[in-house]
Order: sequence, then C-alpha cells, then structure tokens
Amino acid sequence: MNLSVIFASFMLLMSFRVLETQQLEVGFYKTTCFSAESIVRQEVEKAFFLNRGIAAGLIRLHFHDCFVRGCDGSILIDSTASNVAEKDSPANGISLRGLEVIDRAKARLEATCKGVVSCADILAFAARDATELTRGMGWSVPAGRRDGRVSLAAETVDLPPPTFNVDQATQLFMRKGLSQEEMIILLGAHSVGRSHCTSFSDRLYNFSQTSSQDPSLDPRFARFLKALCPQDRQGNINPNLVVPMNGSPNLQDNSYYADILKHRVVFTSDETLNSNSETLSLVNEYASNNTDWLVNFAQAMVKLSMIGVLTGTAGEIRSNCRVTNS
Ligand code: HEM
Ligand SMILES: *[C@@H]1O[C@H](CO)[C@@H](O)[C@H](O)[C@H]1NC(C)=O
Ligand SMILES: *[C@@H]1O[C@H](CO)[C@@H](O)[C@H](O)[C@H]1NC(C)=O
Repeated sequence: MNLSVIFASFMLLMSFRVLETQQLEVGFYKTTCFSAESIVRQEVEKAFFLNRGIAAGLIRLHFHDCFVRGCDGSILIDSTASNVAEKDSPANGISLRGLEVIDRAKARLEATCKGVVSCADILAFAARDATELTRGMGWSVPAGRRDGRVSLAAETVDLPPPTFNVDQATQLFMRKGLSQEEMIILLGAHSVGRSHCTSFSDRLYNFSQTSSQDPSLDPRFARFLKALCPQDRQGNINPNLVVPMNGSPNLQDNSYYADILKHRVVFTSDETLNSNSETLSLVNEYASNNTDWLVNFAQAMVKLSMIGVLTGTAGEIRSNCRVTNS
C-alpha cells in the first residue's frame, strides 16, 4: 500500500466517524422536507382542539421514548407475536395517549416526503408544539434523529415509578445524563395532564401496606382524591378512573411547585421533593417565578430530547411508526 492509499482510507474512516457522531440540527428538514414541522404542528393542533389532554400525552410520550434506548421512536413500535414492546409494559400501557396523532402526522409526511422524517423527530416536534399549545414556552427543536429497530417492554425499568423517593429518582436521571435540578425542572410537566387513580391509590388506602392514608398528603386533598378514586367492596379501584394532575391541567405553568409546597401532588415522587433542603429550595425558586421555570423547562426539554439519539446512517426512517421497516 502506498502512502496516498493509506491517507485516502484514513480520510474515508474519518468521514464515517463524522457521520456517526453527527449532531442534531435545528432546521434539519429545511431542504429535504420543508413542511415537516408545520405538518406535525397542524396535526397536534387538530387533536388538541378536540381534546386538550392530548398535549400532556404527547409531552409524556417524548419523555418515555427518550428514557428507554434514547429518543429513537422505540415507544411507538407495536408488540408482535414474538415480542412485547415498550408500549405494552405496565409503565406505559393504557396510560399512554397521543399515539394516533403521531400516526396521522407520519401518514401525511410519508405522502409529502416519503422516507425522510423520522418518528423520533415527530415525537420531539410534537412535544414542543404541545408545550406551546398549553401556553408554555417553546423551543427550536434540534432534529435529525433516526428510528431504532428494537422495543422491549423489559427495558422500561428505565422509567421512574411514582413510588420513587428523591434519591432514587435523582440517580435514575443522572444515569441518563440529567442533573437533579434538570429533573426538578422537567417534573414541572406534571402541571398538565392526568393520572390514573391506580398510579397513586396506595397513598390513599394502603400506605406502607397498613390500610391507612399517606400522612404527608394534605387531608383535604386526600378526601378529594378518594371521592374521585373510590374503592369497590373488594377494595379494588376501577383501572380506567383518572384525576387531573392539578387545578389547571391544560396550562403549562409553575403551579406544580406551589402544589408540592402545599402537599397537594398525587405521586410520592412529587411529594418527596419536600424532603431534602436542596430540592426544596429549587421548588421554592420555581414556585415563585413562572418565567424562570418556563425558560428552564424549554432548555431542559432540549437536553432530554438528545439522550441516546441515533444519527447519520444509524437506524432507519420508519415508514410506519408502529413497525420497523422490513
Ligand atoms: C420521577 C420522575 C417521574 C415520575 C415518577 C413520573 C410518573 C408519572 C405517572 C405515574 C404519571 C401518570 C400516568 C397515569 O397513570 O396515567 C405521569 C403522568 C405524566 N407525566 Fe410523569 N413522571 C416523571 C417525570 C416526568 C417528566 C420528566 C415528564 C416530562 C418532561 C413527565 C410528564 C408527564 C405528563 C405530561 C403526564 C400526564 C400524561 C397525560 O395526561 O396523559 N413526567 N407521570
Ligand atoms: C398494598 O400494597 C402492597 C405493596 O406495597 C401490595 O402488594 C398490595 O397488593 C396492596 N394492597 C391493595 C389492596 O392494593
Ligand atoms: C424571574 O426569572 C427570570 C428569568 O430567569 C428573571 O429574569 C427575573 O428577574 C426573575 N424575576 C424575579 C422577580 O426574580
């Protein structure tokens, strides 16, 4: 081999490396699918004006996508005869909403620019749009994610359960490259949406398995929740019952932090932010300044949306978000 061949192969190798580590980029589709972001926006708006709760569902979908195998659209893949997918795990299951919005956006994008826009990017755009529609502060979405080909229910152990305390939750977020402060900022998303009663009913009826009520819950709030989440004679709770996350479930604002201070939050993982002086001081900061929270939330969402992304030639652009390309 002469020197120039060695040099050429070196350069080739380097260009592959650049491809592999290619960063996401705002306006990624401007030359390949100019209307990509506006098509997603239109579909999110249509769904939102029929059912405002869809916005919360879309924000959570992006979070759950990113925490399991990175933001690669793996949450959208349907189970098959031989595989139970992420969406059919207990952590997701019936609590997911907004999946049809992604399908509709994808169908239009395939009709307009076939094989160009990834499902993972559609989720990222939709989460931003959902935040803006609920009067939060939007952000420019770095794009260019590619879709993964694997979705395993077993990997949803990476999703935090609502029974976690602050240290457990912080450790999980740190493993995903997010700080405790970023976790607290992102948790402000719990100012929108709903929860199924079964996600927190142990706090009402079965605290520490003693058939009592969580003493950290504001008693009036506990009465309110019990009225919405009654037990039947056998002590079971209808798995379809839901409660709003707070008093303004369609409004992205800092009310979540005020609710924490008043012990009026549904999950142990929310209440637990009261239990540590560092997290409590951040809760106080965001409770007292909505703009501060909105600005920081937008930044933290950008960071969340870059976890473990596939770029360049990795993965694929799925033609149907529910199935990998054959
Ligand atoms: C310690 C971390 C977290 C825990 C334990 C947690 C847990 C939960 C649970 C149990 C639900 C209710 C699901 C149901 O029963 O319907 C929920 C809903 C929700 N979560 Fe989280 N979450 C966490 C962090 C986040 C983050 C980081 C975001 C977004 C950035 C987020 C956004 C949402 C939204 C928007 C909803 C409402 C969904 C809807 O209305 O359809 N959560 N969360
Ligand atoms: C009470 O909680 C324990 C675990 O904490 C659980 O195994 C049990 O099924 C719960 N009981 C009811 C009635 O929900
Ligand atoms: C609220 O936060 C914003 C943005 O961080 C900051 O510019 C503003 O000075 C803060 N307002 C108060 C009253 O602290």
